[in-house]
Amino acid sequence: MWHYLLFVSLFAFANAVPVPFIIKCNARDVKCLTNTTNVAIPIFAAGIPEYGVETLDPLFFETIDSSSLNIKLIMYNTTVKGLRNCKARTVQRDVVNSKLFIKIECNVTLNGLYVMSGRLLLIPIEGKGKNHADINRFVTSFNVTLKDVQGKDGKKHWSIKGWSYTYELEDQSHVRLENLFGGNEVLAKAAEIVVAANGNGIIREIGSPVINTLIVKLADAIQTFFHAVPLEDLILQ
Ligand SMILES: *[C@@H]1O[C@H](CO)[C@@H](O)[C@H](O)[C@H]1NC(C)=O
Ligand SMILES: *[C@@H]1O[C@H](CO)[C@@H](O)[C@H](O)[C@H]1NC(C)=O
Ligand SMILES: *[C@@H]1O[C@H](CO)[C@@H](O)[C@H](O)[C@H]1NC(C)=O
Ligand SMILES: *[C@@H]1O[C@H](CO)[C@@H](O)[C@H](O)[C@H]1NC(C)=O
Repeated sequence: MWHYLLFVSLFAFANAVPVPFIIKCNARDVKCLTNTTNVAIPIFAAGIPEYGVETLDPLFFETIDSSSLNIKLIMYNTTVKGLRNCKARTVQRDVVNSKLFIKIECNVTLNGLYVMSGRLLLIPIEGKGKNHADINRFVTSFNVTLKDVQGKDGKKHWSIKGWSYTYELEDQSHVRLENLFGGNEVLAKAAEIVVAANGNGIIREIGSPVINTLIVKLADAIQTFFHAVPLEDLILQ
């Protein structure tokens, strides 16, 4: 699926000072682009108020609807931690087509409350309580289309026109759902075994809305940053 961003925050922070943590790179220098991304990640994740970038670690979501044809599932008060430790594996630019390709590895934890009923990995399941997930070596490949726009500062800026992504789970993830079947151990037993053994399967089956919500947050933050910082402070031209 291809996503588009709105221009809500366009140039709200046009007068910001140059960014000390950005190492400006040549367009073809993948090593430099990857490194500067890795230097930027923890700073970015902590939030950069001068540029209007909100903190990304932890992230909090009041409600996420992860329902599908097979299951009704709502997650409440979800806290996601760990984005500050993400590592870019590669960052590449395609200047001719104004594209940016980023492959990034993250280990994240998720904690919150859930309410579910339906079928999960084919077995009947229901419950209401705390949920927890350790998502290990979550590797996302982003395909971003940029365009150049002029800011209020009269300078050229990047703006994200659209993006798509794919993800892989390169390690075993662990999911825990407390209080399945109202705590009835007899009813919950089969479901607990399936949940304990199939973290990745569960994330693939019901994780898309959560992952999408996360990635929209991330794209918004990057967009805000691009709109605040002129290209001349970001890349070698
Ligand atoms: C990445 O950039 C930082 C900051 O300029 C520098 O200290 C570090 O040596 C660089 N690492 C690599 C692998 O180039
Ligand atoms: C989520 O947290 C808020 C604030 O602590 C609380 O009022 C609300 O009841 C919580 N939601 C659920 C479903 O527990
Ligand atoms: C994720 O966790 C694995 C296993 O502990 C570790 O080897 C890897 O370096 C971590 N990745 C990141 C990006 O922190
Ligand atoms: C990026 O997206 C464009 C447009 O959808 C597509 O043509 C291209 O193949 C994608 N590239 C990668 C590396 O995914």
